Amino acid sequence: MDTEERGWDEFWAELFRVKHRRTIQGIQEYDKMVVEFCVRVLDLEDSDKILDIACGAGDHCIEFAKNGLVVTGFDIAQSLIDVALKHTKDEGVEVKFFKGDMRKIDFAHEFKGAVLLSHSFGFFNHEENRRVLQGSFAALAEGGKLLLDLINPYRIPTFQKTWSKLEGGYLLSEPHVLDAQAGVLRGRPATFIDSETGKIIMMNADALSNNDIRMYTALEIRHILEEVGFKKIDFYGQNKLPRMPYTVTSERMVVVAVK
Ligand SMILES: C[S@@+](CC[C@H](N)C(=O)[O-])C[C@H]1O[C@@H](n2cnc3c(N)ncnc32)[C@H](O)[C@@H]1O
Repeated sequence: MDTEERGWDEFWAELFRVKHRRTIQGIQEYDKMVVEFCVRVLDLEDSDKILDIACGAGDHCIEFAKNGLVVTGFDIAQSLIDVALKHTKDEGVEVKFFKGDMRKIDFAHEFKGAVLLSHSFGFFNHEENRRVLQGSFAALAEGGKLLLDLINPYRIPTFQKTWSKLEGGYLLSEPHVLDAQAGVLRGRPATFIDSETGKIIMMNADALSNNDIRMYTALEIRHILEEVGFKKIDFYGQNKLPRMPYTVTSERMVVVAVK
């Protein structure tokens, strides 16, 4: 069998964020719950503006728009933005999508709320991670709130090595590993067997590094958020209602910071 390596945008973005995501049972209900939680915790009302940073294929953006919000979403992967645009049209809602890098957020005093969902924080070195929060701060209007929906660093989920059948082939997902000395959750390597061509497709170095996540504790996150100017910082233990306190055994670590 021939083996080929491919990058994040050209292949894996769509495979993981669209095709694989759609096979997760109950994912639409999950998205609705997460969006309802964000709307309540961020105090958003009809026509308020929200920014979805690293929006993937825009599933949450569409849900926010259905809740009457004025939504902007961006992601580094053009392939995901293309899927998001098509999906938005099919759903008959309006969302502004563009391809963009979260290290270069270019908005000022514009949004009442901003979100980084499904642990889309910590992909870079410390200075660049800090820049993401700095840009998010700048993008918010006075009193606006940022929400980070993160894995609880004290309760990292364990995954099995699994095979799934996806459109066009079979996906082998492997567990991620915490590099304790670096504080980095090393990405989940994956292999795709293309059933049409019979090729084995592996992630290249770019696609793998895109999955590496620097895990921050609550204290560390609070410190960076305060450094970039946020005033009030709260933590919750789940990304759905009711609001639960954050503890060592919580499902998630959700951070809400007020400008
Ligand atoms: C875990 S996914 C979450 C996607 C979406 N927010 C969700 O909840 O389904 C992380 C996303 O971050 C995007 N991403 C990675 N690096 C980025 C960057 N520098 N700027 C913007 N988006 C980036 C990836 O393309 C991917 O869609």
